[in-house]
Amino acid sequence: MEKKFKRTLVTSALPYANGPVHIGHLAGVYVPADIYTRYLRLKGEDVLFIGGSDEHGVPVTIRAKKEGCTPQDVVDRYHNIIKQSFEDFGISFDVYSRTTSATHHQVASDFFRKLYDEGKFVEIESEQYYDEEARQFLTDRNIRGECPRCHHANAYGDQCEACGSTLSPDELINPVNALTGNPLVKRKTTHWYLPLDQYQQWLEQWILEEHKEWRPNVYGQCKSWLDTGLKPRAVTRDLDWGIPVPVEGADGKVLYVWFDAPIGYISNTKELCDQHPELGSWETWWKDPESRLIHFIGKDNIVFHCIVFPTMLKAHGEYNLPDNVPANEFLNLENDKISTSRNWAVWLNEYLVDMPGKQDVLRYVLTANAPETKDNDFTWKDYQARNNNELVAVYGNFVNRALQLTQKYYNGIVPQCGELTDTDKATLAEFKDVKDRLESLLDNFKFREALKEAMNLARIGNKYIADEEPWKVIKTDPERVKTVIYISLQITANLAIAFEPFLPFSSKRLREMICMDEFAWNELGNTELLPTGKQLAKPSLLFEKIEDDVIQAQIDKLNATKKANEEAQYIAEPVKDCIEYDDFSKLDIRVGTVLECERVPKMKKLLKFRIDDGLQKRTIVSGIAQFYEPEQLVGKQVLFIANLAPRQFKNGLVSEGMILSAEDWDGNISVTTVDRKVKPGSCIS
Ligand code: MF3
Ligand code: ZN
Repeated sequence: MEKKFKRTLVTSALPYANGPVHIGHLAGVYVPADIYTRYLRLKGEDVLFIGGSDEHGVPVTIRAKKEGCTPQDVVDRYHNIIKQSFEDFGISFDVYSRTTSATHHQVASDFFRKLYDEGKFVEIESEQYYDEEARQFLTDRNIRGECPRCHHANAYGDQCEACGSTLSPDELINPVNALTGNPLVKRKTTHWYLPLDQYQQWLEQWILEEHKEWRPNVYGQCKSWLDTGLKPRAVTRDLDWGIPVPVEGADGKVLYVWFDAPIGYISNTKELCDQHPELGSWETWWKDPESRLIHFIGKDNIVFHCIVFPTMLKAHGEYNLPDNVPANEFLNLENDKISTSRNWAVWLNEYLVDMPGKQDVLRYVLTANAPETKDNDFTWKDYQARNNNELVAVYGNFVNRALQLTQKYYNGIVPQCGELTDTDKATLAEFKDVKDRLESLLDNFKFREALKEAMNLARIGNKYIADEEPWKVIKTDPERVKTVIYISLQITANLAIAFEPFLPFSSKRLREMICMDEFAWNELGNTELLPTGKQLAKPSLLFEKIEDDVIQAQIDKLNATKKANEEAQYIAEPVKDCIEYDDFSKLDIRVGTVLECERVPKMKKLLKFRIDDGLQKRTIVSGIAQFYEPEQLVGKQVLFIANLAPRQFKNGLVSEGMILSAEDWDGNISVTTVDRKVKPGSCIS
């Protein structure tokens, strides 16, 4: 069954170059991709690790406008910051380029043009929103208006963040230019669409039948997209930042950022291979059936990497399709969603200023806590605990004891191994199948468990040396101590290999201390790695304890952010057009008592309420599940609109009214209540 591959092309999502990268990026995409690549390299496999910045798209233009500079200025700045952060953290890209490169413009244009010439797109004329004052068409994200579903005042043209509905700008009530507030008119425009619907059957076969081994979160998301039914997707936009559509008469149009960005993986491979002919041709990496393609991404990118990009590759016809797409869930920070706009993040560039030299500590914590199967949380306390109790107390402590004792008793020379006791044999036996165990985890992208396994080896070593107490035995049986140290040193050498993919900086230092020049994955499990008589170098501490005040400083920094966010000036929405009292009195707003409240299966944003409205019980559905645990709301008296026409949700659920809630500038939602108990059904006037 297992297909045999000659080489592996590893890609990691190209980060948007409109801000620095933070721990969420590292945990979700770059550390796992780097672990995987280092592992394959160490095994001696042929592998390329492709990265780069994603430099097109509307957010770049918005940022440029805000900062009064050009989009190119914005991406130049962040591309360099991001690239430096990756280097600093040992993310071992073979190439880190950018989508504003000349190569990429060429490759992406050619790709589009081939599909265009072969009639793979459908051309659709439609009416789009146009801002007459700014003289431009607006993209979905640049349009805001009232949500037709939950009536949230500030929904985007593609999505309402309050109720989670996917929208099109046409559905918005009173759409305006999100930046300027200008009203919009409709104008005709032509775009090219990738007819995903035509590939539906093929995708169902390819994903649902042939890739059942993909992670459940990835497979599940694909299945739900496919079950909903795919529609053609526009691959061009009316915008002045991007790659011009290479078609006569397409002035003012560019390739949609999600069309060009994944092609960036191809362009960057080409750029690399063109400069390094010894790597072979870029086409071998992308087109040879014996090459394997793996995309590392975050969960918000699944549809693009599992459905859209594969369809583009299939339509093109010459390319390999991804073999696996190990997408991660999200990492939260101190129990709160990481957010660039709220500055709720640990920025990599800042981390290294505050914690110089501690790249591996962060890599360790992020992997130990990797959001592989569900969202996970990063806390500074956990960071400290993992550093002090695991890296320092287990791995570091063991290695340090083994190396210091070698110095002290044998001048740093590996001693002779004597006769083995049962404990020695049992300890060494633990290393026999460590390579197989680690491989089966790493091959299946289970980095968290693999790291645990590596740490377990250090635990075995730590326990061994603690139990054998060579510092005591040296007084009674010096011969015995030679064996104990010999074995400890072999374990140390194994640790240097096992940890390399995860903690490359520490592994390198450890290798230098034990003068281990030959270094290969396949030596893992070999318990005669350091021969008797070998001279080792002077040891130094691999990890250092992190004190409370250092951690407190980080927590204080986040608290200051929180405080600043709370105090930030809230610029309220402009007041809507004036209405008459009669208009108001049409609204029947009442107090209801919440009898029951529960989550709605498969609808993450929704809560379903049973409300006592004074006359009867009614069901109201509200898009506030992110903000409350259902139990918190039971018994509360809430304000609701009693005479709103019932609305039906996709899954058949009907909402009989609307609970009134307040949304703050941050998008947090609070339900409105009365400030003392009243009879259910009381009217608001
Ligand atoms: N820039 C996108 C994001 O951060 C990822 C692009 S991945 C690529 O969500 F495939 F398009 F390159
Ligand atoms: Zn909504």
